[in-house]
Amino acid sequence: MVCLGNICRSPLAEGILEQKIQQHDLDWQVDSAGTGFWHIGEPPDHRSMKVARNHGIDISGQRARQFSTEDFDNFDLLLAMDESNKKDMLRLAQNDAHAEKVKLILDYDAAFFGTKDVPDPYYDGKFEYTFDLLATACEKLLAYYHVTH
Ligand code: 4NP
Repeated sequence: MVCLGNICRSPLAEGILEQKIQQHDLDWQVDSAGTGFWHIGEPPDHRSMKVARNHGIDISGQRARQFSTEDFDNFDLLLAMDESNKKDMLRLAQNDAHAEKVKLILDYDAAFFGTKDVPDPYYDGKFEYTFDLLATACEKLLAYYHVTH
């Protein structure tokens, strides 16, 4: 799960998918990162921690890290929160196999969402909307991989 700062959107996406992985007893691993370096080592934004906590998810132990070329080899799927994140990630891809791993998290049902990008809540403060969007996106992702309730 990759966004710009790794403090607002992708920590929520990681926490939400981690909860679903546990609920479905899946053999998956999820992590998150930011394309930017500004927040390396920081915990998630307090607003992300709060909205997650309101939904029974504790993301306070997460620490921001920067997306790196090694992630292309360490993960099967690299999910960008928006087109800008995707562009920044693709710039680090070293071959077609790397590039093919990069998708938008809303790609799994673009028509349903009516948008390709998860808006950045950092400035407008709409963290509840971000949470709902990401929770639905994770459900769509699981459905794509035939994980059912
Ligand atoms: P995120 O939000 O990419 O969802 O973590 C942002 C957090 C911080 C900044 C930008 C976006 N920033 O410019 O510091």
